[in-house]
Amino acid sequence: MTSRQPSGIYIANANEIDSIVEIEQKCFPRKVAYSKRQLEHLILNPNSDCWVEKQDGIIRAFLIVTYRQRQRFTCNIETIDVDPAFKNRGIGLKILKAAETEMKRRGMRWSELEVSEGNEAALKVYKNAGYKFKERLEGYYKFEHYGTHNAIRMTKEL
Ligand SMILES: CC(C)(COP(=O)(O)OP(=O)(O)OC[C@H]1O[C@@H](n2cnc3c(N)ncnc32)[C@H](O)[C@@H]1OP(=O)(O)O)[C@@H](O)C(=O)NCCC(=O)NCCS
Repeated sequence: MTSRQPSGIYIANANEIDSIVEIEQKCFPRKVAYSKRQLEHLILNPNSDCWVEKQDGIIRAFLIVTYRQRQRFTCNIETIDVDPAFKNRGIGLKILKAAETEMKRRGMRWSELEVSEGNEAALKVYKNAGYKFKERLEGYYKFEHYGTHNAIRMTKEL
């Protein structure tokens, strides 16, 4: 019997980890990409949510949010990855908005993230979603991300 596969945007199932790892590896070079182990930890951790966007049986994107106990009203976006074959179709913005709906439902007031200052597409998505510049983090990344070690911390009042 085949089980019914969900479509749309939803919290990832444990059996979807391989598709998520595959997208991460397509999006980032090996040194920079989260490993399968790190992704498994984030996906299975009760303090984080991994959202996926699926269409026609294909996972096209994922987003990971962490909820930290020491930050009562602030959550953090760890990453948004859209499979390169499906970029620039509004999927990044759509999955971000879905995750924010859940953040608000959980009583969060702020969403924060760090993004490479060279990552023009991601900066555009976050600006389009209403995130504002908070601070510049010099030397934030150990390995170069989009041609730089520097990141921008962005924040949004939900
Ligand atoms: C960043 C990312 C998630 C965006 O996903 P997406 O589905 O393509 O995003 P959207 O289609 O919602 O929006 C993309 C926006 O970036 C713009 N854009 C795309 N490439 C760009 C570039 N090189 N420079 C400037 N803007 C760019 C698009 O025009 C669009 O803006 P617009 O809607 O105002 O025209 C995707 O590119 C990705 O997965 N990148 C690799 C992983 C990554 O870097 N993730 C971010 C980690 S913080």
